[in-house]
Amino acid sequence: MLKINNVSKIYLKGKDKFTALQDVSLEVEKSDFLAVVGPSGSGKSTLLHLVGGLIQPDSGQVLFRGNDVYKMNSKEANRYRTKNVGFVFQQFHLIPYLTVYENIKIAETESERKNGKIEALLEKCALLPLKNKYPSELSVGEKQRTAFVRAIISEPEILLADEPTGNLDPENSKILMTLIKEFNEDGGTVLLVSHEPETTNYATKIITLRSGKRV
Ligand SMILES: Nc1ncnc2c1ncn2[C@@H]1O[C@H](COP(=O)(O)OP(=O)(O)OP(=O)(O)O)[C@@H](O)[C@H]1O
Ligand SMILES: [Mg+2]
Repeated sequence: MLKINNVSKIYLKGKDKFTALQDVSLEVEKSDFLAVVGPSGSGKSTLLHLVGGLIQPDSGQVLFRGNDVYKMNSKEANRYRTKNVGFVFQQFHLIPYLTVYENIKIAETESERKNGKIEALLEKCALLPLKNKYPSELSVGEKQRTAFVRAIISEPEILLADEPTGNLDPENSKILMTLIKEFNEDGGTVLLVSHEPETTNYATKIITLRSGKRV
């Protein structure tokens, strides 16, 4: 499904170069729920952004079904980012002036649009009564579940989650992790960055990064 071959990423900080990832390789199967762990600054988010097609590696390849994500033309790359991967972040990144329903609606791609689909997912995530509320009117758990529905509304093959429970209490963490696990059991691939041992318990594979290297 996903093959990451010797990727490196160097950030420029003023005149200094900082190697955030060095020669990292990784293979992800369709049925995987992969947890990426490691200390702060070890390159976890950088790895997730590379997989999501959001930042260009300095060397190495990210292959999705054998296609190099960074050699795709702009139309293919856009399709990959909108259709094949879904993102959940620690800070939710909901659009403040759109309702729960509208935040999800704008992420829906033409080909996956079905009547009642948003409502069905909202119902599953205990959000249906809140569909017309704005993000500022939601609890943190509700915000993150909205972001989760937005991430999966177009039925991506891969869900990329960067510390999705970082701002949640234990109860809301458990609800969200159960939803992410169900996405995996229904055939979706999950890459999850987490510090918390309780969340890595849901994973089927764990990799550790330290100073930008896989250990
Ligand atoms: N845009 C950037 N410009 C310069 N340096 C960056 C940039 N993004 C990340 N870095 C640096 O690269 C390193 C790896 O960052 P990254 O965000 O991948 O770490 P992380 O493992 O996700 O950390 P955390 O657990 O704190 O989220 C860090 O030292 C960070 O300061
Ligand atoms: Mg991070």
